[in-house]
Amino acid sequence: MAKTKTAFFCQECGFRSPKWLGKCNGCEAWNTLVEETIVPVGADADSGRWIAVGSKAQGENKPIPLDKIEVSGEARTPTGSSEFDRVLGGGVVAGSVILIGGDPGIGKSTLILQSLNHLGKGRGKVLYVSGEESAAQIRLRADRLSIQSDHLYVLAETAFEEIIAHAENLKPVAIVVDSIQTVYTRRMSSAPGSVSQIREVAAQLMFYAKRSNVAIFIIGHVTKEGAIAGPRVLEHIVDCVLYFEGGKDHAYRILRGVKNRFGAINELGIFEMKGVGLVEVENPSGLFLSERPKDAAGSVVVATQEGSRPMLVELQALVSSSYLGSARRMALGVDPNRVSLLLAILEKRAGLHLGDQDVFVNVVSGIQMNEPAIDLGIIAAVASSFRDRPIDPETIVFGEVGLAGEIRGIQKAAQRIREAEKLGFKRCILPKRNETQLREEEKGKIKIELVGVAQIGDVLEVI
Ligand SMILES: Nc1ncnc2c1ncn2[C@@H]1O[C@H](COP(=O)(O)OP(=O)(O)OP(=O)(O)O)[C@@H](O)[C@H]1O
Ligand SMILES: [Mg+2]
Ligand SMILES: [Zn+2]
Repeated sequence: MAKTKTAFFCQECGFRSPKWLGKCNGCEAWNTLVEETIVPVGADADSGRWIAVGSKAQGENKPIPLDKIEVSGEARTPTGSSEFDRVLGGGVVAGSVILIGGDPGIGKSTLILQSLNHLGKGRGKVLYVSGEESAAQIRLRADRLSIQSDHLYVLAETAFEEIIAHAENLKPVAIVVDSIQTVYTRRMSSAPGSVSQIREVAAQLMFYAKRSNVAIFIIGHVTKEGAIAGPRVLEHIVDCVLYFEGGKDHAYRILRGVKNRFGAINELGIFEMKGVGLVEVENPSGLFLSERPKDAAGSVVVATQEGSRPMLVELQALVSSSYLGSARRMALGVDPNRVSLLLAILEKRAGLHLGDQDVFVNVVSGIQMNEPAIDLGIIAAVASSFRDRPIDPETIVFGEVGLAGEIRGIQKAAQRIREAEKLGFKRCILPKRNETQLREEEKGKIKIELVGVAQIGDVLEVI
């Protein structure tokens, strides 16, 4: 009989090593390697899923010419939430596996319970597998969300083999596994939540989804670093990876796609957490700007583009003299490295002496912005706070800033401008190149005043 072997797995990235290491060679994290049992090679040969797939393939699966492959007519099923559908690329694809990650208590179970109920309506049964909460707790949540359903089945179970057995009997059209970290397969002796368990269970779920054409939602917890706990390989296995984010101090929740085999990524779904559950936000710009201070130095509205939707968000900066010897830099909602870079550009190209100043930058609303188009907003907010001069509250800005202090054109300027017009803004500071382009293409259609800038110095002048 083959003897049981163990290996050490990094709990962050799934890196595998035969011996213990203090620092992971895969992701350079410290103290993340944990010993786990791996299935003995001999045993794997009889029960390994790839072998099983292979032996089955002898009879059923054959290479098929592309145009002879049958597809069912109804490709996507709406989730009942336009925001969720937007992120998924228009609805749920049958047989796909969708991973949803998020901080504890952010509302993952709520979102998924609401959608699952809708997914089953008129189409068949749906199965909610919970390893974290009892059936009664889920009933309580459903009551709060006013979900009444005879097609939604709840199963409080953590053994993977049991879950699949129940699914085979019930034949649901969609399954939720809440959460992947609580489920274990008996084929592995390592603890639930360990890398080998997560990886194996996810791969098996994927296999089951493809075989029975069931959509499976997997909920995953997120580590402090923001990655879904367990191996990043999980993200490679599944079809679609969504993150549910937003600070606990805010009522907004943002659903962000980071991988999608059936749709565009970087679409955002925006929700508000209310007593009755998650409610879609139809006008995010309006919501984000609703509490904006007028005539406060350091505040500016930037037009960002997330996926297909433009959004106006307030960006704030606070610059104050540093008494601690070394100036502090803090950024929330934007990349801190990007902020440091822009501060250096401001110092070098515009002569603002920020070396002995603490600088804090914050995106109001708790949203994370990774687009270069917000560069100009950061520059404007910092300069405004430094000089203690408010920026006209009816102005929006966008543009990328280069190392030489040049303002570079960005994508989809016209959409951003339209959003700003809709919300009543009067003036837009934008890259010169975009201005010229817009004047040619949109002749006369633009009502907002366009101010093109080519150099960082021009920006400081116009604001
Ligand atoms: N009565 C209520 N009114 C308003 N909001 C509520 C109410 N009850 C719960 N919530 C919100 O729902 C959130 C919990 O949602 P949910 O259980 O779906 O989160 P989760 O992401 O699944 O959490 P976990 O990681 O613990 O499973 C709470 O943080 C709270 O904001
Ligand atoms: Mg939950
Ligand atoms: Zn690692």
